[in-house]
Amino acid sequence: MAIDKQYWNNRYKTHQTSWDMGNISDPLKNYFDQLKNKNISILIPGCGNAHEAEYLIQNNFSNITLIDISELVVDSLTKKFEQYISEGKMKILCGDFFELDEQFDLIIEQTFFCALDPSLRKKYAEKMNTLLGDNGKLSGVLFSFPLTTEGPPFGGNKEEYQNYFATLFQIQTMEPCYNSIEPRRERELFFVLKKL
Ligand SMILES: C[S@@+](CC[C@H](N)C(=O)[O-])C[C@H]1O[C@@H](n2cnc3c(N)ncnc32)[C@H](O)[C@@H]1O
Repeated sequence: MAIDKQYWNNRYKTHQTSWDMGNISDPLKNYFDQLKNKNISILIPGCGNAHEAEYLIQNNFSNITLIDISELVVDSLTKKFEQYISEGKMKILCGDFFELDEQFDLIIEQTFFCALDPSLRKKYAEKMNTLLGDNGKLSGVLFSFPLTTEGPPFGGNKEEYQNYFATLFQIQTMEPCYNSIEPRRERELFFVLKKL
């Protein structure tokens, strides 16, 4: 089964969205809370229902771009965030992350990496690198449980992730998450990578 646009549209259409926590995760909330500059450009790829974007907007961040391959979720986000789009604070794109051609100061990872076929991991790391401007950062959470052929979500571990990122990024943090929600407890790593 291909994990493509049709697959994701179907997941949203049939309400099979068990990844959606209905709110921003604590690791990302804490990370956002210590950011001083609210004008930085932020990308959230594979944004789904984009609870992180809602939190960012409520906290006066003003340059947020969302991208998702599913038009179903993008249509719903476009209605939900209509006001912020018209105020120029948010941009919502429907398309493939791997075809995006822009640069950002910060990119957020939240159950997007684990949703991709594991054969795309090296390409993901390279694409993230080109999407970041000088001193740009990629930050968020990655699952830490054994990789199986059944997914998404597809697992992985710190050592594997370091191999993808170490040549392209300074790994500032990649540590077990202390504040995951219960079902993800001891199964997540919080990370901050700075573009080299
Ligand atoms: C597991 S969901 C996570 C959604 C959201 N980040 C969250 O945590 O609730 C993965 C999301 O990535 C999107 N997606 C998958 N492949 C994509 C691609 N190549 N480009 C953009 N979005 C993609 C899917 O449509 C889906 O919304």
